[in-house]
Amino acid sequence: MLVLAIAYSGIFNIAASAGHPAWLEWLLMLGKERSVIVNSKPVDVPELDFAELVPLGAAHFQGGCATCHRMPGQLLNPVYDQMLPPPPDLTIHAPMWTREQLFWMVRNGIQFTGMPSWSGHDRDDEVWAVVAFLEVLPSMKKEDYLKYANGNVSDKIKVKNYPASRLASEGRPRINPNACDRCHDTGDSPPTSPYVPRLGGQDNAYLKRALHEYHSDLRQSGFMEPIAVELDDEHINSLANYYASLTVPAAKTAQSPPLTGFELGRQLVEHGDLSRKIPACLSCHGANKRSDYPRLAGQSEQYIRQQLQVLQRGVRAKTPHGAIMTAIAQRLTEQQAEAAAAFFANQSPAGLKAEEGLRQ
Ligand code: HEC
Ligand code: HEC
Ligand code: HEC
Repeated sequence: MLVLAIAYSGIFNIAASAGHPAWLEWLLMLGKERSVIVNSKPVDVPELDFAELVPLGAAHFQGGCATCHRMPGQLLNPVYDQMLPPPPDLTIHAPMWTREQLFWMVRNGIQFTGMPSWSGHDRDDEVWAVVAFLEVLPSMKKEDYLKYANGNVSDKIKVKNYPASRLASEGRPRINPNACDRCHDTGDSPPTSPYVPRLGGQDNAYLKRALHEYHSDLRQSGFMEPIAVELDDEHINSLANYYASLTVPAAKTAQSPPLTGFELGRQLVEHGDLSRKIPACLSCHGANKRSDYPRLAGQSEQYIRQQLQVLQRGVRAKTPHGAIMTAIAQRLTEQQAEAAAAFFANQSPAGLKAEEGLRQ
């Protein structure tokens, strides 16, 4: 009743510029800390190679967090500095929290502060890349940070150098023209992390469909949705054309000698498993596949495994294409999923040719 009376009276000054009174500041800090400690208790850290996730986490941080939290060696934008509470410098703050607690905050956001929750629904698996990055951030020099955050963006075309003449005539493009190179493959370099899919050589129709699905919230990803939402049809068409036409290395990126499970993988990919009603993967991902289905040859083991888990959880089941693959993924044993991933990862990213080769 008293609280209601105070709220209604309007005597509490909600102006951010007024700051929090010391007692409220203390109470909020305590409340936040206890809430994070208690709520993050059930979080289980998965067995992942955190080092492999760092480049992906860094590139996402640059696109999705640095505006508020600043990058190493940068002063905070005065506008964000006036937020109440202001976004903390994570080079100082990240080490104050455990892995589980960082995960919980990035996954759920923090109420009443402007700190957002993860935008990919049911994609908790993605959040670990950001946690992996936050753990190494405090020891990163500005140069290291930029190397990771820019990924495959080559020096020549950094956005900072986007020519002023073009800026003047066309305005700053809504989508940074190098945005994709921060994570994905270029003609010369593979993706920056094995958790990022290779796009080069994927069919135009598949790339377009994937981008439209991220754009309209039909496919969930906290990495891709914020990027795709900025793309219009024209961007999507030209990006799909670009990646479909990229030449991909003919050589295997694969680990040799072949991994355990390789033979089981070959069997499954070429012939399926009748006893579990699993068709041969190649019947849809092989040489004669439809152009709106993805290629898998040369995609990394980590990416294929992760997507199979996402499909098994039903996260991609909203679309007709996703529903087809969901039903198949849910019939795979863990061993079969691993074996198929190991097998495809060991094929040439030149894709179709390798898959044709398999059929002989
Ligand atoms: C719109 C601005 C904004 C964006 C974007 C943002 N944050 Fe925050 N973040 C905040 C604010 C404000 C706080 C302070 C909350 C507080 O003090 O309770 C915060 C707090 C945090 C904390 C807790 C630090 C601490 O010690 O209190 C972490 C970790 C964090 N953010 C990570 C991230 C990551 C990672 C991203 C990108 C995925 C991100 N934030 C995006 C505004 C933002
Ligand atoms: C921060 C890193 C990052 C950036 C920047 C990025 N991507 Fe992605 N992209 C990813 C990740 C990670 C995935 C896998 C997402 C998932 O789990 O669905 C992905 C998936 C995709 C897919 C689906 C591929 C498949 O095999 O299903 C397409 C298409 C794509 N990205 C295109 C783009 C384009 C075009 C851009 C630039 C406009 C871009 N991406 C920028 C990280 C990134
Ligand atoms: C009946 C056709 C069909 C068969 C058989 C099939 N798939 Fe798929 N698969 C699809 C379709 C369609 C998609 C695209 C789903 C989407 O866009 O959401 C897909 C997507 C995938 C993806 C995600 C690729 C990406 O880039 O995100 C993986 C991984 C995958 N399939 C693995 C397999 C494996 C392993 C097998 C064999 C055990 C298999 N598939 C058999 C139709 C099939």
